[in-house]
Amino acid sequence: MHAPDVTLPLRFMLFGMACLLSAGAYLLFHPALLVQYHYSPQIVALTHWVVLGFIVSVVSGAVYQLTPVALETRIHSERLARIHFLCQVVGVPGMVAMFWVWNLKQVGHFGSIFGLGVGLLAYNLYRTLKQVERRTPVSFGIGSAVTWLTLTMLVGLFLASAKCWPQINLWPPMSEMHAHAHLGILGCFITLIVGVSYRLVPMFTLGTLCSERRAFASLILLNTAVAGLVVTITLGSSWKLLFAGVALVGLGLFGAEMRAILKARRRGPLDWGLRSFLAALCLLAPTAAIGLALGSPWLPAGEFSAQLEGAYGILALFGVVTLAILGMMQKILPFLVWFRTYAPVAGKAPVPGLSDMSCQGLQAAGLLAYIAGILATATAAALGREEWAAPAWGITSIGVACFVGNALWVLRHWTRALPQAR
Ligand code: HEM
Repeated sequence: MHAPDVTLPLRFMLFGMACLLSAGAYLLFHPALLVQYHYSPQIVALTHWVVLGFIVSVVSGAVYQLTPVALETRIHSERLARIHFLCQVVGVPGMVAMFWVWNLKQVGHFGSIFGLGVGLLAYNLYRTLKQVERRTPVSFGIGSAVTWLTLTMLVGLFLASAKCWPQINLWPPMSEMHAHAHLGILGCFITLIVGVSYRLVPMFTLGTLCSERRAFASLILLNTAVAGLVVTITLGSSWKLLFAGVALVGLGLFGAEMRAILKARRRGPLDWGLRSFLAALCLLAPTAAIGLALGSPWLPAGEFSAQLEGAYGILALFGVVTLAILGMMQKILPFLVWFRTYAPVAGKAPVPGLSDMSCQGLQAAGLLAYIAGILATATAAALGREEWAAPAWGITSIGVACFVGNALWVLRHWTRALPQAR
């Protein structure tokens, strides 16, 4: 059995969920922040609370859980992973609190603790990947994503230092910040989603990877696009459109491979966890369209483009990345709980199937409310309609509450085996 002790990924995921819920609750009482220009201490702080607290925590937990399973090897060191968790729960709240008061020196200090954690993750993963001979699209995707995360962290520390010592700035700070954001969201999060999809979607649909060559090509193009976009965005060069095009071709190949896997699958109807994940992948299309518009020379810089940047960030972070994670957590959580509670008694007593442990009604309501809410929130941001933000985020929060309700429904099985219908 290659997976680490179940409490290792779970502690990252539970901390991550706590960050998402607290950020979501704060926005419920301050919805105007969702339509205001995205560059203010509060929004930068909230962005890092969601990005580092929720997404990086869940991503780290998933990497520790999935890499050994996907590559059939053991994680190099569970002890280093536990130290990483400590760096996460100290570094991230510290960074966010210091962003809030815009004390960039202290952001740098707490960011270094967070950075140490990312370094431990990268080292642990590098040593784990070294144990397997054959490179697969999954190991390539995970390896690329953690490399981009490490670079994003280092650029973040540079940005914080440049606020304290402006003379070290080489390029316009806003371009550096946009490059930093793309490095993290496209480079780390979206590349990771693409990479692990090549294992998780076949695994959960009883399908197979149809073309390994196409899978590798999609990741090579995505990595090329990330490298090119970071340079051209920093330099403010119009060549960024070319690399945006390369990213689109890479994502197009990914879409084609996903479609082929789903067409060839052996398991019939898709459950709500997979539907949520696939819905998140579909939101890549409007996100990419807005990204192209923002990168094009035809959209003049001004109030509308500033509002569109906000919609772009909301769709990328909450539409694609967060929904993909919530979708996959609906698959992974029953798996983790089943292994802990039922694996020891399987074959000796009646045990539930994985799908019996979830609440389909909550899952369906969650997905519909979440998508409607996110699209309404992004529209409110793009059109600068503050009065729409509260109802739009309210609907999104109902979606998140349904997902959490379903997670709690699954976690009922954590402490003890529940009686099964004979
Ligand atoms: C040690 C780690 C990090 C530090 C010190 C850091 C620092 C910063 C700073 C100083 C800014 C504002 C830049 C400016 O004012 O010009 C910023 C913005 C941003 N960072 Fe980070 N960052 C870190 C990690 C990350 C990571 C890992 C991600 C994503 C994966 C990320 C995503 C973002 C985003 C999306 C923005 C733009 C926020 C906005 O537009 O409101 N950061 N970061």
